[in-house]
Amino acid sequence: MGGDGDEIIAILGGTGDLGTGLAMRWAKAGHRIVIGSRTLEKAQRAVAELERANPPVDPSQYAALENPAAAAAGDIVVLTVPAAHQLSTLESVRACLVGKILIDVTVPLVPPRVGTVRLPEEGSAGKRAQDFLGSEVRVVTAFQNIAAHLLKEDVTVECDVLVCGNKRAARQRVIDLAAEAGLAAWHAGPIENSAAAEALTSVLIQINRRHEIAHSGIKIVGQTR
Ligand SMILES: NC(=O)c1ccc[n+]([C@@H]2O[C@H](COP(=O)([O-])OP(=O)(O)OC[C@H]3O[C@@H](n4cnc5c(N)ncnc54)[C@H](OP(=O)(O)O)[C@@H]3O)[C@@H](O)[C@H]2O)c1
Repeated sequence: MGGDGDEIIAILGGTGDLGTGLAMRWAKAGHRIVIGSRTLEKAQRAVAELERANPPVDPSQYAALENPAAAAAGDIVVLTVPAAHQLSTLESVRACLVGKILIDVTVPLVPPRVGTVRLPEEGSAGKRAQDFLGSEVRVVTAFQNIAAHLLKEDVTVECDVLVCGNKRAARQRVIDLAAEAGLAAWHAGPIENSAAAEALTSVLIQINRRHEIAHSGIKIVGQTR
């Protein structure tokens, strides 16, 4: 197993595009993965796909559960549902998140104008999650600028990951998990700073459109001090 021994990563809404992509990358790195869904059957179908793409290293590597049971089983929980369902999903699992790291990938896009930044009144989706869950849950935001389908392909992803959250050690854990998924990730400060990463997604969508490119991304540059 990769990472911290038998640590389980539970992905809520792990049947969708980004959840499936992250699951594939972390499965390849040897992690134990629980796919969460609103329905057990859908989670089971996603696990069957995962098994086809990455045969399990042992029979217990993957499991399919409904979201609340998945959140209870996970040592680290990842939220990968559309922004409109962020809070209702968190509400359904909140008791199971106490003491854990919640990785929130939510980008608060407002269709149809997804190329225009529309952050929620709390400042960002990440701040909204942290406010909702309270300080007993370490919310860390990440992966908002990564195209899901690149994660599913055997390619190098050129886009870096900005990692925000109020606890340095929790951010570091997510930076390490990003590295295991083949992604360079950076401490980007407290949860308030998630606004920048979330807003960048609409900027990148505009760049993709206006410059007729696919999957524009960001790279952090600098010199060693
Ligand atoms: N796609 C990307 O490239 C990308 C990149 C960066 C960030 N993100 C962010 O990642 C999150 C997920 O994006 P996605 O593209 O993976 O989304 P998605 O495929 O449209 O949906 C993900 C999952 O959300 C669950 N879901 C759908 N409607 C729901 C509802 N009413 N209540 C609760 N759960 C519901 C579904 O799981 P079940 O039906 O199994 O419950 C679905 O499989 C979003 O917040 C998005 O902004 C996406």
